[in-house]
Amino acid sequence: MAEYKGGLMETDFNRSQPPGGARLGKSLSGGQVTRSESATNISNNLTSRSSDSSTEPVTSLNEYAGEVDPRKHLNLEAPTKIDIRHLNFYYGSKQALTDVSLAIRERQVTALIGPSGCGKTTFLRTLNRMNDLIPGTRTEGEAIFEGENIYDKSVDVVLLRQRIGMVFQRANPFPKSIFENIAYGLRVQGKSQRQIKEMVEESLRRAAIWDEVKDRLNTSALGLSGGQQQRICIARALAVKPEVLLMDEPCSALDPIATLKIEELITELSQDYTIVIVTHNMQQAARVSQYTGFFLSHETVKGQLIEYGPTVDIFERPKKKETEDYISGRFG
Ligand SMILES: Nc1ncnc2c1ncn2[C@@H]1O[C@H](COP(=O)(O)OP(=O)(O)O)[C@@H](O)[C@H]1O
Ligand SMILES: [Mg+2]
Repeated sequence: MAEYKGGLMETDFNRSQPPGGARLGKSLSGGQVTRSESATNISNNLTSRSSDSSTEPVTSLNEYAGEVDPRKHLNLEAPTKIDIRHLNFYYGSKQALTDVSLAIRERQVTALIGPSGCGKTTFLRTLNRMNDLIPGTRTEGEAIFEGENIYDKSVDVVLLRQRIGMVFQRANPFPKSIFENIAYGLRVQGKSQRQIKEMVEESLRRAAIWDEVKDRLNTSALGLSGGQQQRICIARALAVKPEVLLMDEPCSALDPIATLKIEELITELSQDYTIVIVTHNMQQAARVSQYTGFFLSHETVKGQLIEYGPTVDIFERPKKKETEDYISGRFG
């Protein structure tokens, strides 16, 4: 696993800002650090960029990702895990997502980016029907997961949420012991005491927190640091053997060191799980994801997926002007 060094941390929490120009050359290794001038010359036409291969890259992915090689795990052949087609979502009469279609790739990390309020969280929560818990909401369209439409009335929502687990913005461990936090879902599943013990350890190991907590399993999870609590929550989600993990800004409340630990964990877990992560942090998207979806809300059209594709294309060869403006930090 690559180590994170140098100037990266300084920029780690800049909301939607690209790394600053002058500092870049000094702080990051590699030759691809100069920002393309072409970004200032693009026309206002929405689709003006469309795949003109002679155009210089808008930004360099490495400029955002630092010493991590974001292309390393990209699998262009990865099969579709969840196929979302023409999704519309409403809070009462208020539309929050408009005609969203995208194919989430198996065992890849998909990052969802876009300005605050553009519908990222709403979209993420449609994938395991967490929005069902909010009265007056309505979903149209489909999301095909292993041949079944997630939005079908006949879907067993409890089972769905085991298969598509979720980690929230703020770590939310139960006010119980570390052991009980992980054991809870397993007890509900009717596992034996011995199975539970084994699976608690396995889950804590997978979430890269075992060594830190193995001698204090019976103490309260609330006594742990924020970063540790978030890994406990990841372990809790892993314990019930999900296939997909949804993460809504899982590092937004964490310091840079804890953030890097979670990012390394995400990369590790993506070998076995399909991961969808909402992040406001472009550096994070560049470091952890292989695919990126960019959402935007207009005055009239809410929650549109403007562009979706391999992260490297979104950062270096965006097809839409809005994506380019966002990636190059012109709004956020
Ligand atoms: N529970 C809710 N009831 C009504 N509107 C909501 C609710 N949650 C979010 N919204 C609205 O939906 C839009 C998208 O919000 P959200 O998905 O949270 O965006 P993001 O995660 O990109 O910041 C916003 O206009 C927000 O105000
Ligand atoms: Mg959100």
